[in-house]
Amino acid sequence: MNIQTLLSDKIQHAMILAGAENNPEPAVRQSGKPQFGDYQANGIMGVAKKLGLNPREFAQKVLERVELNGIAEKLEIAGPGFINIFLAKEWLADNVEKALSAVNFGIKTNNPQTVVLDYSSPNVAKEMHVGHLRSTIIGDAVARALEFMGNKVIRANHVGDWGTQFGMLIAYLEKMENEQASEMELSDLEAFYRAAKENYDSDEVFAEKARQYVVKLQSGDHYCLTMWKKLVDMTMSQNQLNYNRLNVTLSEQDVMGESLYNPMLPEIVADLKAKGLAVEDDGALVVYLDEFKNKDGEPMGVIVQKKDGGFLYTTTDIAAAKYRYETLQADRALVFTDTRQSQHLQQAWLITRKAGYVPDSFSLEHENFGMMLGKDGKPFKTRSGGTVKLADLLDEAVERASKLINEKSTALSEQEKAAVIEAVAIGSVKYADLSKNRTTDYVFDWNNMLSFEGNTAPYMQYAYTRIRSIFNKTDTDSTALANVHIVLTEDKERALAIKLLQFEEAVQIVTKDGTPHVLCAYLYELAGIFSSFYEHCPILNAPQEIKFSRLKLAQLTERILKQGLDLLGIKTVEKM
Ligand code: ARG
Repeated sequence: MNIQTLLSDKIQHAMILAGAENNPEPAVRQSGKPQFGDYQANGIMGVAKKLGLNPREFAQKVLERVELNGIAEKLEIAGPGFINIFLAKEWLADNVEKALSAVNFGIKTNNPQTVVLDYSSPNVAKEMHVGHLRSTIIGDAVARALEFMGNKVIRANHVGDWGTQFGMLIAYLEKMENEQASEMELSDLEAFYRAAKENYDSDEVFAEKARQYVVKLQSGDHYCLTMWKKLVDMTMSQNQLNYNRLNVTLSEQDVMGESLYNPMLPEIVADLKAKGLAVEDDGALVVYLDEFKNKDGEPMGVIVQKKDGGFLYTTTDIAAAKYRYETLQADRALVFTDTRQSQHLQQAWLITRKAGYVPDSFSLEHENFGMMLGKDGKPFKTRSGGTVKLADLLDEAVERASKLINEKSTALSEQEKAAVIEAVAIGSVKYADLSKNRTTDYVFDWNNMLSFEGNTAPYMQYAYTRIRSIFNKTDTDSTALANVHIVLTEDKERALAIKLLQFEEAVQIVTKDGTPHVLCAYLYELAGIFSSFYEHCPILNAPQEIKFSRLKLAQLTERILKQGLDLLGIKTVEKM
């Protein structure tokens, strides 16, 4: 149930009946203050102006024509021509009932799409670091939300699994195998990469072999491909451990690395050249874009093929965009990387469009995000200044969460406690990131995220267990509840009902804008509204009818909190 869309449609229809043309925009929004109603239509003034009418008079005409019988109990014109909408209690109660009995609360998009999500995207023979963390968890939350709304989601883990560095990596893997290196030595990817590079820089025989392997790999040599595959598998099986631990839905089947596009690149470059888009410049092939200026104010050149014949990151992204439209038949493709890759993607996509590989209707979106900073405001680093490995970060989270939970909960068995600690640890790291607007940098602060106060994972998880405990204290069964209709008498009950019905609006924004923080903010508000409802409206001691009605509100709150946290990839526990 999307109240905003419903009211919007109704008011728009009335605007047309009142003389407006061409999709008039009613601009229906949730009201900020109760005296302005539950929703308000802010679009009257703009449309009246176009029609040359007095806005309040136009508002009056719209009110006379709008059909909100049974939905709104009061409509009023305010200020220069706003329409304030007060929803009817019975209608709200009916819709809470419907949400309780429907699959997914009755939430479903009427326009399901195929959406590709390019997220996580680590690099082979490199450890996943905190920079990949943001991409992984933000992308995963958006993927879950899109799926929940009924869209087809294709997860495309754009792993960096191709390039000239593989010659050196293969040569080094061969050396390690000859020396019968242990699993241990191979599992430290960072050290592996460094050692390969050291050999390459210091040993001419090694370097020559590495260069030969690049050429052989590119021409499909069996041995080199086998070795390459080993490197990819080694990396991805370690990454999979991180994904599992992070409660992220990515699996090995979702890998669509750069190598997938490699065979398509010669044809694309030839085509760009034939279309006059790519021109030769000092042996390389370059696309000059008027839309981007270099520092001298001239059109910026984007290289699509190097002098030595090699292709670039941009060439691969052109192929990826084309493939996602043409082969995967997607309506949208979203790429989750940090803001620094923005220009790169805009250029690749502009070339894709200029070449006519995708129609205007195909949407290419960069879900960019800022950097993760330490408390000193500088990029997040280890104490000794190195990059923080994701696995180490999660270990630290568990250690810190243990302290927090051991101080708070004494009534849990050891086994329960371990599950709570893991949920709180991972949940805190994820929620801290997800709850911030992704476009800004954010400060990673253990104390803020591992707290039971404020908009944090522990607060939300605890709010959930508090509602669970109400149900643990009563033996009212669900059939008894189903037979009683919800009645909204108190303001707090009414406020809770509206908030519950706004879940869909929040999820929809996440799917449209790729902004999970909107869902976090919604859930946090819901938990707060429930708290104040629970404080003012006793449940278990109330007379039977009222008790059941309130229990149903609590039941829907519990389910929406759980579902909402699940969309964020945050686990809930039954008690803490
Ligand atoms: N592997 C890249 C990196 O670590 C991210 C890839 C993002 N996706 C893309 N289509 N360019 O920076």
